[in-house]
Amino acid sequence: MKINSSQNWFLGLILIASVITAQSLYPHDDEVKIIGGEEHVQTPYGLMLRECVHNVPSGTYIQESEDGSIFLTNDEKNFAKRVQKSEKCQKADATRKLEQWIDNGGWDLPAKISLSKFEAFYYVPNTPRTTNDQWLYYFIGSQNNDGSGPSVSIIQPVLSYYKGWYFQSWNCCPDGQAFNSPSIFNITPHDEVYGSVEVKDSQVTIVSQNKLGEQSSLTVDRSGRNFTWIDATLETYSISNCTDYPKGRMTYSQMNVTLNNEIAAIPQWTDTFGPSECLGKTIIQDPQTISIYHNILLE
Ligand SMILES: *[C@@H]1O[C@H](CO)[C@@H](O)[C@H](O)[C@H]1NC(C)=O
Ligand SMILES: *[C@@H]1O[C@H](CO)[C@@H](O)[C@H](O)[C@H]1NC(C)=O
Ligand SMILES: *[C@@H]1O[C@H](CO)[C@@H](O)[C@H](O)[C@H]1NC(C)=O
Repeated sequence: MKINSSQNWFLGLILIASVITAQSLYPHDDEVKIIGGEEHVQTPYGLMLRECVHNVPSGTYIQESEDGSIFLTNDEKNFAKRVQKSEKCQKADATRKLEQWIDNGGWDLPAKISLSKFEAFYYVPNTPRTTNDQWLYYFIGSQNNDGSGPSVSIIQPVLSYYKGWYFQSWNCCPDGQAFNSPSIFNITPHDEVYGSVEVKDSQVTIVSQNKLGEQSSLTVDRSGRNFTWIDATLETYSISNCTDYPKGRMTYSQMNVTLNNEIAAIPQWTDTFGPSECLGKTIIQDPQTISIYHNILLE
Protein backbone atom coordinates (compact mmCIF):
# COMPACT_ATOMS: atom_id res chain seq x y z
CA MET A 1 0.00 0.00 0.00
CA LYS A 2 1.21 3.45 -0.89
CA ILE A 3 0.75 6.11 1.77
CA ASN A 4 0.60 9.66 0.47
CA SER A 5 2.30 12.43 2.37
CA SER A 6 -0.83 13.79 4.09
CA GLN A 7 -1.67 10.31 5.43
CA ASN A 8 1.92 10.03 6.53
CA TRP A 9 1.67 13.29 8.38
CA PHE A 10 -1.54 12.12 10.04
CA LEU A 11 -0.02 8.77 11.12
CA GLY A 12 2.93 10.70 12.52
CA LEU A 13 0.61 12.75 14.70
CA ILE A 14 -1.11 9.64 16.02
CA LEU A 15 2.26 8.13 16.85
CA ILE A 16 3.40 11.24 18.72
CA ALA A 17 0.11 11.40 20.65
CA SER A 18 0.38 7.77 21.75
CA VAL A 19 4.00 8.19 22.84
CA ILE A 20 3.08 11.22 24.92
CA THR A 21 0.12 9.55 26.66
CA ALA A 22 1.72 6.14 27.26
CA GLN A 23 2.54 5.65 30.94
CA SER A 24 5.04 3.02 31.84
CA LEU A 25 3.39 -0.04 33.36
CA TYR A 26 6.49 -0.56 35.51
CA PRO A 27 7.53 2.96 36.57
CA HIS A 28 10.60 1.78 38.51
CA ASP A 29 12.13 0.68 35.21
CA ASP A 30 12.21 4.27 33.97
CA GLU A 31 14.68 5.26 36.70
CA VAL A 32 17.52 2.79 36.56
CA LYS A 33 20.41 3.70 38.88
CA ILE A 34 23.93 2.44 38.29
CA ILE A 35 25.61 1.54 41.58
CA GLY A 36 28.97 -0.23 41.54
CA GLY A 37 28.54 -0.78 37.83
CA GLU A 38 25.25 -2.63 38.32
CA GLU A 39 21.74 -1.59 37.33
CA HIS A 40 19.43 -1.07 40.29
CA VAL A 41 15.75 -0.15 40.48
CA GLN A 42 13.60 1.17 43.31
CA THR A 43 11.16 -1.33 44.82
CA PRO A 44 9.13 -1.60 48.04
CA TYR A 45 12.13 -3.64 49.24
CA GLY A 46 14.66 -0.88 48.66
CA LEU A 47 16.99 -0.53 45.70
CA MET A 48 17.34 -3.94 44.13
CA LEU A 49 19.51 -5.31 41.37
CA ARG A 50 17.40 -4.91 38.27
CA GLU A 51 18.04 -8.51 37.24
CA CYS A 52 16.32 -9.70 40.43
CA VAL A 53 13.10 -7.74 39.75
CA HIS A 54 10.63 -9.30 37.34
CA ASN A 55 7.80 -7.47 35.63
CA VAL A 56 5.11 -10.00 34.77
CA PRO A 57 1.63 -9.80 33.20
CA SER A 58 -1.38 -9.56 35.50
CA GLY A 59 -2.60 -12.97 36.65
CA THR A 60 0.82 -14.64 36.44
CA TYR A 61 1.38 -17.68 38.64
CA ILE A 62 4.74 -17.78 40.43
CA GLN A 63 6.05 -21.14 41.48
CA GLU A 64 9.33 -21.91 43.21
CA SER A 65 11.01 -25.19 42.44
CA GLU A 66 13.31 -27.14 44.73
CA ASP A 67 16.39 -26.30 42.67
CA GLY A 68 15.94 -22.55 43.26
CA SER A 69 14.56 -21.68 39.84
CA ILE A 70 11.13 -20.09 39.55
CA PHE A 71 8.45 -20.84 36.98
CA LEU A 72 6.21 -18.03 35.79
CA THR A 73 3.10 -19.02 33.88
CA ASN A 74 0.12 -17.14 32.55
CA ASP A 75 -1.92 -19.11 30.02
CA GLU A 76 -4.37 -16.28 29.40
CA LYS A 77 -1.57 -13.90 28.43
CA ASN A 78 0.35 -16.63 26.62
CA PHE A 79 3.33 -16.01 28.90
CA ALA A 80 5.75 -18.54 30.35
CA LYS A 81 9.25 -18.05 31.68
CA ARG A 82 11.77 -19.81 33.85
CA VAL A 83 13.79 -17.56 36.13
CA GLN A 84 17.10 -19.27 36.77
CA LYS A 85 18.41 -19.61 40.28
CA SER A 86 20.69 -16.67 40.96
CA GLU A 87 23.16 -16.66 43.81
CA LYS A 88 23.62 -12.96 43.27
CA CYS A 89 19.91 -12.35 43.94
CA GLN A 90 19.87 -14.78 46.87
CA LYS A 91 22.85 -13.05 48.44
CA ALA A 92 21.25 -9.62 48.11
CA ASP A 93 17.92 -10.86 49.56
CA ALA A 94 16.01 -7.64 50.11
CA THR A 95 13.85 -8.91 52.98
CA ARG A 96 16.89 -8.44 55.24
CA LYS A 97 16.85 -4.68 54.94
CA LEU A 98 13.34 -3.35 55.35
CA GLU A 99 14.36 -0.09 56.98
CA GLN A 100 12.09 2.41 55.36
CA TRP A 101 8.76 1.64 56.95
CA ILE A 102 7.69 4.98 58.38
CA ASP A 103 4.17 4.43 59.69
CA ASN A 104 2.67 1.07 60.41
CA GLY A 105 -0.01 -0.88 62.20
CA GLY A 106 0.84 -4.56 62.60
CA TRP A 107 -0.75 -7.65 64.10
CA ASP A 108 0.64 -11.11 64.89
CA LEU A 109 -2.06 -13.70 64.33
CA PRO A 110 -2.84 -16.03 67.26
CA ALA A 111 -0.47 -19.00 67.60
CA LYS A 112 -0.96 -21.89 65.16
CA ILE A 113 -3.37 -19.79 63.09
CA SER A 114 -2.57 -18.39 59.68
CA LEU A 115 -4.19 -16.00 57.27
CA SER A 116 -6.91 -16.86 54.83
CA LYS A 117 -7.83 -13.37 53.56
CA PHE A 118 -7.06 -9.73 54.30
CA GLU A 119 -8.78 -6.97 52.33
CA ALA A 120 -9.10 -3.21 52.65
CA PHE A 121 -10.13 -0.04 50.91
CA TYR A 122 -7.33 2.49 50.58
CA TYR A 123 -8.37 6.14 50.68
CA VAL A 124 -5.95 7.84 48.28
CA PRO A 125 -4.40 10.87 50.02
CA ASN A 126 -3.72 14.28 48.53
CA THR A 127 -0.98 14.41 45.93
CA PRO A 128 2.25 15.71 47.56
CA ARG A 129 2.83 19.40 46.98
CA THR A 130 6.37 18.82 45.76
CA THR A 131 7.84 16.15 43.54
CA ASN A 132 11.52 15.63 44.42
CA ASP A 133 11.88 12.07 43.09
CA GLN A 134 10.33 10.66 46.25
CA TRP A 135 8.74 7.21 46.34
CA LEU A 136 5.73 6.55 48.57
CA TYR A 137 4.41 3.03 49.06
CA TYR A 138 1.11 2.47 50.90
CA PHE A 139 0.12 -1.16 51.38
CA ILE A 140 -1.62 -3.79 53.39
CA GLY A 141 0.30 -7.02 53.39
CA SER A 142 1.28 -10.23 55.08
CA GLN A 143 4.42 -12.22 55.85
CA ASN A 144 5.25 -15.71 57.05
CA ASN A 145 7.08 -14.59 60.16
CA ASP A 146 6.94 -18.03 61.81
CA GLY A 147 9.81 -19.63 59.92
CA SER A 148 7.48 -21.72 57.75
CA GLY A 149 8.38 -22.34 54.12
CA PRO A 150 11.74 -21.86 52.44
CA SER A 151 12.20 -18.12 53.22
CA VAL A 152 10.36 -14.97 54.25
CA SER A 153 7.84 -13.86 51.66
CA ILE A 154 5.89 -10.61 51.56
CA ILE A 155 2.61 -10.32 49.68
CA GLN A 156 1.22 -6.85 49.14
CA PRO A 157 -1.00 -4.68 46.92
CA VAL A 158 1.03 -1.45 46.79
CA LEU A 159 -0.50 1.97 46.14
CA SER A 160 2.50 3.95 44.94
CA TYR A 161 3.38 7.55 44.29
CA TYR A 162 6.25 8.38 41.99
CA LYS A 163 5.50 11.48 39.94
CA GLY A 164 1.92 10.16 39.94
CA TRP A 165 -0.32 7.55 41.54
CA TYR A 166 -0.39 3.90 40.48
CA PHE A 167 -1.28 0.53 42.03
CA GLN A 168 0.62 -2.76 41.66
CA SER A 169 0.72 -6.21 43.24
CA TRP A 170 4.15 -7.22 44.58
CA ASN A 171 5.76 -10.34 46.01
CA CYS A 172 9.24 -10.53 47.44
CA CYS A 173 11.55 -12.43 47.75
CA PRO A 174 11.43 -16.10 46.87
CA ASP A 175 15.07 -16.99 46.14
CA GLY A 176 15.95 -13.30 46.37
CA GLN A 177 13.70 -12.33 43.45
CA ALA A 178 10.87 -9.79 43.44
CA PHE A 179 7.82 -9.92 41.19
CA ASN A 180 5.40 -7.18 40.23
CA SER A 181 2.30 -6.92 38.09
CA PRO A 182 1.57 -4.03 35.67
CA SER A 183 0.51 -0.72 37.18
CA ILE A 184 -3.12 0.28 37.33
CA PHE A 185 -3.59 4.00 36.71
CA ASN A 186 -6.74 6.20 36.78
CA ILE A 187 -6.20 6.82 40.49
CA THR A 188 -6.84 10.27 41.94
CA PRO A 189 -6.82 11.69 45.47
CA HIS A 190 -9.80 10.71 47.61
CA ASP A 191 -10.62 7.61 45.55
CA GLU A 192 -11.24 4.41 47.45
CA VAL A 193 -9.15 1.69 45.82
CA TYR A 194 -9.26 -1.98 46.83
CA GLY A 195 -6.45 -4.32 47.82
CA SER A 196 -6.50 -7.93 49.02
CA VAL A 197 -4.27 -10.89 49.75
CA GLU A 198 -5.91 -14.30 49.86
CA VAL A 199 -4.53 -17.74 50.68
CA LYS A 200 -6.51 -20.57 49.13
CA ASP A 201 -5.25 -24.14 49.26
CA SER A 202 -1.71 -23.91 47.94
CA GLN A 203 -2.00 -20.47 46.33
CA VAL A 204 -1.79 -16.87 47.43
CA THR A 205 -3.43 -14.17 45.30
CA ILE A 206 -2.60 -10.46 45.55
CA VAL A 207 -5.15 -8.06 44.01
CA SER A 208 -4.79 -4.31 43.34
CA GLN A 209 -7.90 -2.63 41.96
CA ASN A 210 -8.89 0.97 41.23
CA LYS A 211 -12.38 2.41 41.66
CA LEU A 212 -13.20 1.67 37.99
CA GLY A 213 -12.66 -2.02 38.71
CA GLU A 214 -9.42 -2.21 36.70
CA GLN A 215 -7.18 -4.67 38.47
CA SER A 216 -3.72 -6.18 38.45
CA SER A 217 -2.93 -9.40 40.28
CA LEU A 218 -0.29 -12.01 41.03
CA THR A 219 -0.71 -15.55 42.30
CA VAL A 220 2.15 -17.12 44.24
CA ASP A 221 2.55 -20.75 45.19
CA ARG A 222 2.34 -20.97 48.99
CA SER A 223 5.33 -23.37 49.18
CA GLY A 224 4.43 -24.37 52.75
CA ARG A 225 4.40 -20.82 54.06
CA ASN A 226 1.93 -19.90 56.81
CA PHE A 227 1.14 -16.20 56.69
CA THR A 228 1.13 -15.24 60.36
CA TRP A 229 1.59 -11.47 60.44
CA ILE A 230 -0.38 -8.68 58.76
CA ASP A 231 0.25 -4.97 58.47
CA ALA A 232 -0.98 -1.68 57.05
CA THR A 233 1.94 0.57 56.24
CA LEU A 234 3.52 3.62 54.64
CA GLU A 235 7.05 3.16 53.37
CA THR A 236 9.05 5.95 51.72
CA TYR A 237 12.31 6.57 49.87
CA SER A 238 14.16 9.74 48.85
CA ILE A 239 12.04 12.19 50.83
CA SER A 240 13.81 15.55 50.75
CA ASN A 241 11.13 17.88 52.11
CA CYS A 242 8.02 17.50 54.24
CA THR A 243 6.00 18.67 51.26
CA ASP A 244 7.08 15.43 49.56
CA TYR A 245 4.51 13.75 51.84
CA PRO A 246 0.79 14.21 51.19
CA LYS A 247 -0.93 16.67 53.50
CA GLY A 248 -3.64 15.13 55.63
CA ARG A 249 -4.78 11.55 55.87
CA MET A 250 -4.53 8.29 54.05
CA THR A 251 -6.91 5.64 55.44
CA TYR A 252 -7.17 1.86 55.28
CA SER A 253 -10.85 1.16 55.93
CA GLN A 254 -13.37 -1.68 56.08
CA MET A 255 -10.45 -4.02 56.66
CA ASN A 256 -11.62 -7.63 56.86
CA VAL A 257 -9.38 -10.39 58.14
CA THR A 258 -10.34 -14.04 57.82
CA LEU A 259 -8.25 -16.77 59.44
CA ASN A 260 -7.54 -20.25 58.12
CA ASN A 261 -10.20 -21.66 60.44
CA GLU A 262 -12.72 -19.54 58.45
CA ILE A 263 -13.22 -17.26 61.46
CA ALA A 264 -13.40 -13.49 60.94
CA ALA A 265 -10.73 -11.98 63.17
CA ILE A 266 -10.76 -8.75 65.13
CA PRO A 267 -7.15 -7.63 64.78
CA GLN A 268 -5.43 -6.04 67.77
CA TRP A 269 -3.25 -3.63 65.86
CA THR A 270 -0.16 -2.10 67.34
CA ASP A 271 1.46 1.08 66.09
CA THR A 272 4.95 -0.29 65.59
CA PHE A 273 6.94 2.91 65.08
CA GLY A 274 5.01 5.71 66.81
CA PRO A 275 5.15 9.30 65.54
CA SER A 276 7.28 9.96 62.45
CA GLU A 277 8.80 12.93 60.64
CA CYS A 278 6.70 15.74 59.21
CA LEU A 279 4.00 15.36 61.88
CA GLY A 280 3.57 11.73 60.91
CA LYS A 281 1.03 9.83 62.97
CA THR A 282 -0.62 6.43 62.73
CA ILE A 283 -4.10 6.33 64.23
CA ILE A 284 -5.74 3.01 64.89
CA GLN A 285 -9.35 4.13 64.87
CA ASP A 286 -10.88 0.69 65.32
CA PRO A 287 -9.97 -2.88 64.29
CA GLN A 288 -11.10 -2.17 60.72
CA THR A 289 -9.69 1.33 60.26
CA ILE A 290 -6.15 2.74 60.34
CA SER A 291 -5.25 6.27 59.23
CA ILE A 292 -1.81 7.66 58.49
CA TYR A 293 -1.40 11.42 58.70
CA HIS A 294 1.36 13.81 57.67
CA ASN A 295 1.79 17.56 57.60
CA ILE A 296 -1.24 18.24 59.75
CA LEU A 297 -1.36 18.99 63.44
CA LEU A 298 -3.74 16.62 65.25
CA GLU A 299 -5.16 17.22 68.72
C1 LIG B 1 -15.62 -6.02 54.58
O1 LIG B 1 -16.82 -6.71 54.86
C2 LIG B 1 -17.97 -5.90 54.83
C3 LIG B 1 -19.13 -6.77 55.28
O2 LIG B 1 -19.22 -7.90 54.52
C4 LIG B 1 -18.17 -5.33 53.42
O3 LIG B 1 -19.29 -4.48 53.39
C5 LIG B 1 -16.91 -4.56 53.02
O4 LIG B 1 -17.03 -4.10 51.69
C6 LIG B 1 -15.69 -5.44 53.17
N1 LIG B 1 -14.47 -4.66 52.92
C7 LIG B 1 -13.83 -4.68 51.76
C8 LIG B 1 -12.56 -3.90 51.68
O5 LIG B 1 -14.21 -5.28 50.77
C1 LIG C 1 1.86 -24.28 59.10
O1 LIG C 1 0.48 -24.55 59.28
C2 LIG C 1 0.15 -25.91 59.19
C3 LIG C 1 -1.36 -26.03 59.23
O2 LIG C 1 -1.95 -25.11 60.11
C4 LIG C 1 0.82 -26.65 60.34
O3 LIG C 1 0.54 -28.02 60.25
C5 LIG C 1 2.33 -26.43 60.25
O4 LIG C 1 2.95 -27.01 61.36
C6 LIG C 1 2.65 -24.97 60.21
N1 LIG C 1 4.08 -24.80 59.95
C7 LIG C 1 4.87 -24.15 60.80
C8 LIG C 1 6.33 -24.11 60.46
O5 LIG C 1 4.45 -23.58 61.79
C1 LIG D 1 10.49 22.61 51.06
O1 LIG D 1 9.25 23.02 50.50
C2 LIG D 1 8.85 24.33 50.84
C3 LIG D 1 7.46 24.54 50.31
O2 LIG D 1 7.37 24.15 48.96
C4 LIG D 1 9.85 25.31 50.25
O3 LIG D 1 9.48 26.64 50.62
C5 LIG D 1 11.22 25.00 50.80
O4 LIG D 1 12.17 25.80 50.18
C6 LIG D 1 11.58 23.53 50.55
N1 LIG D 1 12.81 23.22 51.22
C7 LIG D 1 13.74 22.49 50.66
C8 LIG D 1 14.95 22.22 51.51
O5 LIG D 1 13.64 22.03 49.55
